[in-house]
Amino acid sequence: MSLEQTFSIIKPDGVRRNLVGKILSRFEEKELRIVATKMIHMSKSEAEGFYAVHSERPFFGELTEFMCSGPVVVSILEGENAVLHHREIMGATNPDDADEGTIRRDFAESLGENTVHGSDSQENAAIESSYFFSQTEIVNSSS
Ligand code: CMP
Repeated sequence: MSLEQTFSIIKPDGVRRNLVGKILSRFEEKELRIVATKMIHMSKSEAEGFYAVHSERPFFGELTEFMCSGPVVVSILEGENAVLHHREIMGATNPDDADEGTIRRDFAESLGENTVHGSDSQENAAIESSYFFSQTEIVNSSS
């Protein structure tokens, strides 16, 4: 087991439906600690930069339009095996495939509007965290 950080987004559909507290509680109840968080409203170009890895995909336009359609909550979460643990709490990308009790199974309405995003590796967690947070916005969890 190792202490890791991962990057998390509560997407516009989650914020719009007043699910921020419920979703952050699920992370905290399952031993992930919030070490940075804020609400932002991404511009189209910020969304395009964040999801640049998907720029050739047919759904890129739909995805980036959606991500800047309203405010989101971005967070950095810390815990044992945080990247994988967070992905387990979120459930499969497509809510139809997500296990019972996961965030996407319980709240997400479609593949495109799937309520939450989480990093898929430690390397991407570091890249995605630094896309939205400066070092001074991240607390030291042991303090
Ligand atoms: P996320 O974990 O944020 O990473 C990329 C997102 O693209 C993914 O969640 C989905 O919401 C979205 N996505 C993936 N495949 C499709 C698709 N076929 N159509 C629309 N959106 C998709």
